[in-house]
Amino acid sequence: MQREVSYGEAMRRKYPEPIVIAISRDSQGKYNPITLGWFMPTSHEPPMVAISVAFARHSYGAIRGSGCFVVSFPSEHMKEETLFFGTKSGRELDKLAAMKTKIQQAKMIDSVLLEDAVVNLECILKAELTTGDHAIFVGQVVAAHVNADAALRRLYTIDSHYGMSAVRPV
Ligand SMILES: Cc1cc2nc3c(=O)[nH]c(=O)nc-3n(C[C@H](O)[C@H](O)[C@H](O)COP(=O)(O)O)c2cc1C
Repeated sequence: MQREVSYGEAMRRKYPEPIVIAISRDSQGKYNPITLGWFMPTSHEPPMVAISVAFARHSYGAIRGSGCFVVSFPSEHMKEETLFFGTKSGRELDKLAAMKTKIQQAKMIDSVLLEDAVVNLECILKAELTTGDHAIFVGQVVAAHVNADAALRRLYTIDSHYGMSAVRPV
């Protein structure tokens, strides 16, 4: 049986939700990570992905301005920095430096990969669509990288209070 509720109440039941971190170069020249739940692959050929970024975020201007971004899948061991990147703004500080996050230069674009992540995708910005208070950025994947440890698990949000964990088969 179904009970009608508000959109907000319904969405509190969406978890677990996979997390990504998008990294883009801002106008000061620093690489700025933002934690995102709203991500989806959108094409096989060419490979394309989409992320949804609120206009209010520092990352919104950084992605538009640089025209490219890395999408990183944080591992289950990256809880602390994933929460930090999702609660602090690059307007006020250098988040990667503050967390001493290990990075390596991207191969095809002007951004950085997160060394301890499960996956890093290098994306060139191809389109932007306004959807309410967020913009959907569509990126074409021009290089993909995986962690040498194939057993490393992705990090998910598991509740509406930013609880985070890997998910395991039941
Ligand atoms: C688990 C989690 C998921 C989030 N998902 C999104 C998202 O999909 N889109 C978005 O715009 N902000 C999202 N945020 C909020 C941003 O990460 C947060 O506002 C961040 O501090 C913005 O950083 P910036 O100002 O440096 O861009 C999320 C935060 C967390 C912790």
